[in-house]
Amino acid sequence: MHRIGTSERPDLPLATVIGAGALGMAIARRLALSHRVLLADIDGQRAQDCAELMRGEGCDASGIVCDITSPDAVAALAGEVAARGGLGALAHVAGLSPSAGNFRSIIRVNLMGAALVAEALRPLACPGSAAVLVSSLAAHHFQPAPEVASLLHDPAAPDIAERLAAAMGEDATPQLAYPVSKWGMNLYCRRQAAAWGEMGARIVSISPGMIATPMGALEFEKSPAKRQLYEKTPLRRECTMLEIADVVEFLASPRASFISGTDLLVDGGLAAALSDA
Ligand SMILES: NC(=O)c1ccc[n+]([C@@H]2O[C@H](COP(=O)([O-])OP(=O)(O)OC[C@H]3O[C@@H](n4cnc5c(N)ncnc54)[C@H](O)[C@@H]3O)[C@@H](O)[C@H]2O)c1
Repeated sequence: MHRIGTSERPDLPLATVIGAGALGMAIARRLALSHRVLLADIDGQRAQDCAELMRGEGCDASGIVCDITSPDAVAALAGEVAARGGLGALAHVAGLSPSAGNFRSIIRVNLMGAALVAEALRPLACPGSAAVLVSSLAAHHFQPAPEVASLLHDPAAPDIAERLAAAMGEDATPQLAYPVSKWGMNLYCRRQAAAWGEMGARIVSISPGMIATPMGALEFEKSPAKRQLYEKTPLRRECTMLEIADVVEFLASPRASFISGTDLLVDGGLAAALSDA
């Protein structure tokens, strides 16, 4: 029942957005045009403040604390999604850049956390539900060694970060944790399409190139290699958050109803420019 004087839209399906950071909010605002939004973040205060801001703009939004690396916290999130009517859409955005963590924390948040969330929410999917996981172009110009790739077949393993660190030895750096985590995320989406398909639901990853966000700006400061890549981007600019929100909105919508188990590059042509083909 709609309550007079509120932005509540009980008639709309629920979109769960993981990560109330810069990009997470751009995506949440866009999905709020056609969904109720549940924002989840390890910073519960931020999630609640962002949801309040969105309600003030006319969105049906609420915020909840969830550390996606904690199976108990993710189970509690799933309970909340179930109580709110199940999964319409999942936009998984939370992630750590190489400058924001160490090898283990980046693997846990970007890969294990994403897999834990998708596993917990899949049983709440219904025909038409879609999960969109924000990956990165970094997954596309990286190839893990076979022993690392085989570990990535089990991304929700509680000790995945330790196993990868042991397999990678001196290469277990934050700079390599990032492409490993995103390569693993894209693999996960491909491998999960059958399970989501059994529910009549879809799962896809998107791999953005450089997006103009505070996270992206920090990486420009810390990594000279990023500027060299920027110069090679055929469109000669960063992607805006609005352009990523457009893609997530499309992939979560019925217009993308036959797209599953794949990855969509949104990189201004950079992967093509870097390839030999
Ligand atoms: N900026 C770029 O150039 C670029 C390019 C490609 C992909 N991406 C991807 O975009 C995504 C994030 O973008 P953003 O701008 O919103 O980043 P951000 O740093 O603004 O926000 C990340 C959010 O994730 C939350 N978070 C961190 N650890 C968490 C945990 N354990 N549990 C729950 N929440 C947690 C943080 O509190 C924060 O609110 C990442 O997945 C990143 O890899 C960014």
